[in-house]
Amino acid sequence: MNIQHNIQLQPYNSFKTKALSKLFAQPATVTELQEILSEYKTEKKLIIGKGCNLFFTRNFDGLIIKPEIYGIHILEEDAAGVEIEVGAAEEWDKFVEFCVSRGYSGVENLSLIPGTAGAAPIQNIGAYGAEVKDVITCVKTVEIESGHIQNFSNAACGFAYRNSIFKQTQKFVITSVVFRLSKSFTYIEKYADLNLELKNNSNPSLSQVREAIIRIRTRKLPDYLELPNAGSFFKNPILSKPEKEKLLTLLPDAPVYNAGNDSFKTSAAYLIEKAGCKGKRKGNVGIYDHHALIVVNYGTENGEEILSFIQDVQYEVQLKFNIELEPEVWIY
Ligand code: EPU
Repeated sequence: MNIQHNIQLQPYNSFKTKALSKLFAQPATVTELQEILSEYKTEKKLIIGKGCNLFFTRNFDGLIIKPEIYGIHILEEDAAGVEIEVGAAEEWDKFVEFCVSRGYSGVENLSLIPGTAGAAPIQNIGAYGAEVKDVITCVKTVEIESGHIQNFSNAACGFAYRNSIFKQTQKFVITSVVFRLSKSFTYIEKYADLNLELKNNSNPSLSQVREAIIRIRTRKLPDYLELPNAGSFFKNPILSKPEKEKLLTLLPDAPVYNAGNDSFKTSAAYLIEKAGCKGKRKGNVGIYDHHALIVVNYGTENGEEILSFIQDVQYEVQLKFNIELEPEVWIY
């Protein structure tokens, strides 16, 4: 197994910050992954996919593992749907395209989300009223500590808003994910932005929904290859009822959605905009002009600069609305 030493991580994070990893491995099979885990038992470890949701502020004194396990395989098929296993390293949107082009529905709302299929369950990626948890039947992993294969049923994954057991424990390397998709499709109006984009089409096809989402995302979100970023930087805050009421006294127009159990979700982008931070810039880091939830890197290679900027944004929102914004992006 080829283990590299002192590897520059700049190509491996979409924010393009510089840092070195003491050790770096790219196992292509489950067996190779198990060999590495057993050989480097005592090293601190970090597992990465395409690096679209993390950045580095300092060198990593341990082993970074970037699984290179590929393959899209149909496991089962019946009249109603298909079960497909996808290798962790497959690009997420390539898989979405695979499904849409064959008429398999369930992931079309998650079109154009950057990253790998293996990363999708970790933060239960979601967009336009859909979450990946709704189509996952099994997540196949190797436990970092023991090297044992451990497969998780959907119920065992502990899925929640941008959360899962994999994110909570960080004890598993996801090697592949199994999805159940449907062969039929009816568009259900769930998300205002998407309904608006499809307003002239009351019965859109699967590929028309994908195209509409690609249009919305391309308009609103910067391409990380042109303007380094990591997508939504903060999670949408979940508020208790008294917190929600306090917010509505300060900002009567704040978007508030019922999040179950007497809790409410509001929009981090809205709060950042109302705090006056949309378009704000400090040195080489700023809030994107077209969407307040996106932090963009205009040219720094130093992750500390991004960290310092986001702390300013958190401070402003806390000061004005007494709400703590929690990063959705992983900072190392
Ligand atoms: N808004 C503003 N100012 C802005 C942008 C948005 O006030 O500059 C307000 C508007 O009220 C808008 C609301 O925020 O109606 C929601 O905006 P949007 O539909 O863009 O969604 P979001 O809540 O900001 C979430 C996900 C995105 C996902 C979109 C679309 C999180 C943290 N983010 O963003 O996911 O694409 O919904 O469904 O839940 C990501 O996780 O990286 C990501 C891009």
